[in-house]
Amino acid sequence: MNAIDVQHLSKIYRGDIKAISDLSFTVGAGSVFGFLGPNGAGKSTAIKILVTLMNPTAGDARIFDIDVSQKPKEIRRIIGYVPQELSADGSLTGYENLLLSAKLYEIPPKEREQRIADILEMMELASRADSLIDTYSGGMVRRLEIGQAMLHHPRVLFLDEPTIGLDPAGRALVWRQIRKLNHDEGMTIFLTTHYMEEAEALCTQIGIIDRGQLSAVGSPTQLKETIGVGTIRIVLSSSQFSQSTLLDMITSIPGASALFQDPQILEIKVPNPAEHITEILQLIKTNGISVNDLELRGPTLEDVFLKYTGSHLEVAGPKEWKSIKQRRRSVRRAS
Ligand SMILES: Nc1ncnc2c1ncn2[C@@H]1O[C@H](COP(=O)(O)OP(=O)(O)OP(=O)(O)O)[C@@H](O)[C@H]1O
Ligand SMILES: [Mg+2]
Repeated sequence: MNAIDVQHLSKIYRGDIKAISDLSFTVGAGSVFGFLGPNGAGKSTAIKILVTLMNPTAGDARIFDIDVSQKPKEIRRIIGYVPQELSADGSLTGYENLLLSAKLYEIPPKEREQRIADILEMMELASRADSLIDTYSGGMVRRLEIGQAMLHHPRVLFLDEPTIGLDPAGRALVWRQIRKLNHDEGMTIFLTTHYMEEAEALCTQIGIIDRGQLSAVGSPTQLKETIGVGTIRIVLSSSQFSQSTLLDMITSIPGASALFQDPQILEIKVPNPAEHITEILQLIKTNGISVNDLELRGPTLEDVFLKYTGSHLEVAGPKEWKSIKQRRRSVRRAS
C-alpha cells in the first residue's frame, strides 16, 4: 500500500519560477523515504504541497488515497509536519508549545495532559518542560518540534531537514526517535536532508530531485549499484614526479578517471577497485614513488548524489544555523 502517491506534480511560483515540474513518485506505507537534492531543487515546495500549505499548479498528490488539494482537512488529521525553518515559539515554554499544538490538533482535553507528558518523556525533554524555548539548545528545539508534529499520532510524518545544525549527539537522538516512531508505531516518515550519513542511517528508500525533477529513486543499495565505480585514495610519499604522466598511465585503465586532490593525494575512480589495485600500485612504483597510505571504498551515496545532480551536497554548517536563529529573533521583534 502506498502512503504517498505523487503524479505529474508541478508548481510554478509567481514570476514564472518553476520549482517542481512533472514530479511523480510513490512512497510505500511504513517506509522511511529520504528526499535529497541540492539547494533550490524543490524539496520544501513538494512537502508544502503534500502537507496542504500550498496548491500545486498541476498534477495530483494523495496521502493514503486522499487527495491533498481536495480534502485538506482530512489530510491534516493524518499527517505531522516539521518545517525547515524553526517553528516553535521561543517566548513560550516547551509545555506551552505542546499544549498549543494539542489544541490545534483537537486532541480531547482529557487526553491532552497524558499525551503531552508522553511526548516530553519520549523526546527526553521532561526536565525542561517549563523552560522557555529561547533557553533550549538547537537539538532540544528540534526534538520539541518533532514532538509537536506527532502529538495526534499521524500516519505520515514530514520532516524538512530535521537535524540541520545539530551536533552529533543531538542528531543521534533525533535519529533514534525517528527509527522508534517508524518501528514501534509503523509511522511512514518522509524527510529531506543534506547529510548523506543521515540518509544512509535512516532511509529505506531515497528519491533524488534536481531542478524540480526526480532524477533517481531506489533503496540506498540499489542506487549505489547504479554507480558501478569505486574509489581508491592514495597518499604518495613525495610530489617529485610528473603528475600528467602518472594520470595518463592510470586513465588508460578502461573506465578509470583520476585527479590529484593535492600534490601527494591521488583519487582514482574505477570499476571494481580491488581488481585494479595491484596494477595501479605497479604504475606508481614505475614512476619512482612509493605509497604512504591507501584507502579503497565502494560507491557511496555521495557518489550517487554527484551522478544524479552533478553537484556535491551543500551541508549547512553552524553559520546557517546561526542565521536561522537570528531570523527567528528578527521575526519575533517584528511581531
Ligand atoms: N514562495 C516562493 N516564491 C517564489 N519562489 C519560491 C518560493 N519558495 C521557493 N521558491 C523557489 O522555488 C525553488 C525551489 O525552492 P525550494 O525551497 O522548494 O527548494 P529546496 O529543495 O527545499 O531547497 P533547500 O535545500 O535550499 O531547502 C527555488 O528556486 C526557490 O527560489
Ligand atoms: Mg528546503
